[in-house]
Amino acid sequence: MSIRPTAFEFFAGGGLAGLGLSAAGIDTVFANDMDAAKTRAFRANHPHTPFRQGDVWTLTTEDLPGRADLAWASSPCQDVSLAGARGGLEAGRSGAFWGFWLLMQGLAAEGPSPRVIVLENVIGLLTSGPRTEMGRDFAAVCTAMVEAGYTVGALEMDAAHWLPQSRPRLFVVAIQGEAPRAAGPTQPFHSARLIAAHARLPEAVKAAWAWWSLPAPSQRNLDLAAILEPDDAVNWLDDADAILALAAPLHRARIASALASGQRCVGAAYRRVRIENGRKVQRLEIRFDGLAGCLRTPAGGSSRQYVVVCDQGRARVRRLTGREAARLMGVSDDYQLPSSESAALKLMGDAVAVPVVRALADGLLLPALVDRRAAA
Ligand SMILES: C[S@@+](CC[C@H](N)C(=O)[O-])C[C@H]1O[C@@H](n2cnc3c(N)ncnc32)[C@H](O)[C@@H]1O
Repeated sequence: MSIRPTAFEFFAGGGLAGLGLSAAGIDTVFANDMDAAKTRAFRANHPHTPFRQGDVWTLTTEDLPGRADLAWASSPCQDVSLAGARGGLEAGRSGAFWGFWLLMQGLAAEGPSPRVIVLENVIGLLTSGPRTEMGRDFAAVCTAMVEAGYTVGALEMDAAHWLPQSRPRLFVVAIQGEAPRAAGPTQPFHSARLIAAHARLPEAVKAAWAWWSLPAPSQRNLDLAAILEPDDAVNWLDDADAILALAAPLHRARIASALASGQRCVGAAYRRVRIENGRKVQRLEIRFDGLAGCLRTPAGGSSRQYVVVCDQGRARVRRLTGREAARLMGVSDDYQLPSSESAALKLMGDAVAVPVVRALADGLLLPALVDRRAAA
């Protein structure tokens, strides 16, 4: 009987990283998050996984059930996000990464440390830091990993390769030992901005850097329309015309062209505040490319996503539902969502897309763990 590799899941939220890992054959044996609503969602959906609610800074190695092969950290992104004030990894919320790292150092001191560590975050982590030191946070994370004896590399993975949602995210992967790697950057996972961030790293980090290799994803065969609830099961907004009137000329033209096509066209839209002629104005920004925009949380300062359906010369508008958001994250319909729509949307807006984790685990994490077992 083969024994499945194990994982500790930090900043676990609703446990979507664990869903992806488990689909690839890696079992979460301990999870942590400090938020009460996330804790309820995690426990409802993973009743058999040991879970500890609390601040990661308060955890010690004694709280962990032994050792795991892998540690996953989806640490908070508000302070490194391009949409936020960008205090970086020294700020209170995103600085929680260092609480996680202290724990990793504790495991290393007692030995053995996890063979693989993954940090998932927003793309802003590639550039965050003071104005004069662009990329300082990314360098700090990679340096810490290299100093702990890991080979480090990163991948930019957009959920849009697997799901109808545009959601680029950064995965910094630290591995002890061998794992699939390429001689240099490969597309689509080593983007121009990742290559630029690598160029800014200290020489000692570059010396321990790997361009991790992952099979290119196959063509996505699901679009936004396919994950939506039936038209007669949702609440259409009465003020659709007023909402559509907020569209800027380019976006208005998209709506007009969808209406003129005579086909049923499904779009996704957000309200954004833009500066025009020195003034702040509300704008509706819409896309009809089969993708939803990146799911966000209300705490991130942006509004809830709209679904716009143009059919038979008429445009209707409604809000995206929590269940639809879950589908956009690759979560199956048996996942128990919070009863409040806003809590469900926050849970999903904060999460990591399940098939992305699975692809990373299948193509890179699992081979790294299996090689080690073979060598042991
Ligand atoms: C980006 S979300 C990760 C969500 C998760 N990957 C999922 O699939 O749902 C970050 C999570 O970190 C948690 N968090 C933030 N600061 C924390 C801290 N100091 N200790 C423990 N958890 C924390 C938040 O409650 C939130 O659920």
